Amino acid sequence: MQQTIIVTGASSGIGAHCAMALRAEGWRVFATARKPEDIAALESSGIEAFYLDYREPQSIAKLFDDVMQRTGGKLDALFNNGAYSQAGAVEDLSVAAMREQFEANFFGWHDLTLRAIPVMRGQGHGRLVHCSSILGLVPMRFRGAYCASKHALEGLMLCQRAELEGSGIHVSMIEPGPVKSKIATNGLVWFLKNVDYENSVHRDAYKAQLDRLKAGGSVSRAKPGPEAVHAVLRHALLSRRPRPHYVVTWPARIGVMLKRVLPASLLYKVLARSA
Ligand SMILES: NC(=O)c1ccc[n+]([C@@H]2O[C@H](COP(=O)([O-])OP(=O)(O)OC[C@H]3O[C@@H](n4cnc5c(N)ncnc54)[C@H](OP(=O)(O)O)[C@@H]3O)[C@@H](O)[C@H]2O)c1
Repeated sequence: MQQTIIVTGASSGIGAHCAMALRAEGWRVFATARKPEDIAALESSGIEAFYLDYREPQSIAKLFDDVMQRTGGKLDALFNNGAYSQAGAVEDLSVAAMREQFEANFFGWHDLTLRAIPVMRGQGHGRLVHCSSILGLVPMRFRGAYCASKHALEGLMLCQRAELEGSGIHVSMIEPGPVKSKIATNGLVWFLKNVDYENSVHRDAYKAQLDRLKAGGSVSRAKPGPEAVHAVLRHALLSRRPRPHYVVTWPARIGVMLKRVLPASLLYKVLARSA
C-alpha cells in the first residue's frame, strides 16, 4: 500500500522540497499552498495539491475532508510545516499581530492535528511531525511572536506525545536553525505591515533586521538547504523508533548545547548578543 502524507506550506522552502522528495520516494503526497499559481505548479509536478490557510478554519476542514475522500478515510502521516515569521521587538507588536501569528503557526496546526488523530487512532498507527524551530527552544531578540508560537507548539505537541503513548501514533518535533528558504523574504512583508520601525526605540537596531530580511536571511556558505530537514523527516516517518526531537544545523545544535550547560542568565546574555 502506498503511504499517504499531508505536507503543508509546500509552495517554497522546506515544504516544497519535502513534498517533492517524498513523492519521489513513493509516498502519495497531499501538499498545500495558498496562491493559485503555487497550487498549479505542485499539480504540474504530479502532486495532489490543495488550498490551505491555517488562519481559515474552513480551509482546514475542507482540505482534510478532500484528502479523506481520496484515501477512503486513511492517513499515514501529517507534516505540519506552513508558517511565517513575524519579526519585531515584543513592545512593538500589537495583540492583533500576535494573534495572527498564533492563528497561522499554532491554532491552525492544532486544528489539522485534531482531525488527523481519530483517523490514526482508528488505524492504530500514524506519524505526526511538526516543523518547530530552534526558536521553539531558546529565545532571540526581535523574534518574540515567532518564538512564542514555536515554544507554544513545543509545549502542546509534547504533551500530546505523552498522551498518545501506546496508541501507535508517534509525535516528532523538527527544530531547524537557519535553512535556505523564503522565510526571511516572506517575513519582510509582515515586519513592514505590523512594525512601526521608524518610530520605535529600537529604530537603530531594526536597520540590521531590515538588511537581514531584505537579503533573504542570514548569509552563510554553511547554511544548508531544505534537504537537511527532509533527511530527518524521513527518519521521523520511517524509523521504528522516531525521535521526539530532531535538531537540524550546527547553530541549532550549539543553541541546544548552550541551554544545557550555561546558567540561564549567561545563556540569555549570549543569545541577546547573537541576534
Ligand atoms: N528556514 C529556516 O531557517 C527555518 C528555521 C526554523 C524553522 N523553520 C520552519 O520551517 C517551516 C517552513 O518554513 P520555510 O523556511 O520553508 O519558509 P518559507 O519558504 O517561507 O515557506 C513557508 C510556507 O508556509 C506557508 N504559509 C505561510 N503562512 C501560512 C498560513 N497562514 N497557512 C498555511 N501556510 C502558510 C507559505 O505559503 P505562502 O507561499 O502562500 O506564503 C510557504 O508555503 C516553518 O514552520 C518555519 O517556522 C524554518
